[in-house]
Amino acid sequence: MNIFDAISARRSIKSFTDRPITNEEIEQLLSMAVLAPNHRMTEPWRFYVMGPEARAGFGYTLGLRKAKRVDEPNAKVAVIQKVEASHRDLPAMLAVATILHENPEIREEDYAATYMAIQNLCLAAPSLGLGTHVKSGGVMDDPRAREAIGVREGERIIATIALGEPAAMPDPKPRHSADEFTTWVA
Ligand SMILES: Cc1cc2nc3c(=O)[nH]c(=O)nc-3n(C[C@H](O)[C@H](O)[C@H](O)COP(=O)(O)O)c2cc1C
Repeated sequence: MNIFDAISARRSIKSFTDRPITNEEIEQLLSMAVLAPNHRMTEPWRFYVMGPEARAGFGYTLGLRKAKRVDEPNAKVAVIQKVEASHRDLPAMLAVATILHENPEIREEDYAATYMAIQNLCLAAPSLGLGTHVKSGGVMDDPRAREAIGVREGERIIATIALGEPAAMPDPKPRHSADEFTTWVA
């Protein structure tokens, strides 16, 4: 797939088919992720390929956090169970961590490089017939989520990526033209 087409066709995929994802497919995508630009070649990305148990544990934590906004006890339980199950049932899910370098300048560069690795993966996925949904949020730093993933000391989870064959392609989100954000400087 032409890279312009891949960028234009990329969507955050909300629902996946039951088609299983092989370890080889995940390895292929990760081999593209690690080609991202990387100042000082720190290779700061760490990938956690989450099995059903880890996904359910992460989903349970996310469910607990979402349930805080619900008052009725039965509804709370329903939210937790729904979020847990929806994560367990994903075809595949990765958590992406970055190394927390002690130098703030390098830490920022490493964060950026890790997101470039994530984008590489997202843009490569359609070539295997797969789609992705990148997510972040406060749950990334929740100790219960870190434990479910098994993230190591000195690393911070900066995204999860749901991965699978898209069941449906969402419509494109409205976006402004690049020229509205562009200043050509003499
Ligand atoms: C850093 C980052 C964090 C995101 N976090 C979430 C999230 O927590 N939940 C979610 O549904 N989508 C999340 N998204 C996906 C965006 O909502 C999505 O990219 C946006 O709506 C545009 O849609 P598109 O990706 O289909 O073009 C995240 C995307 C990025 C880049």
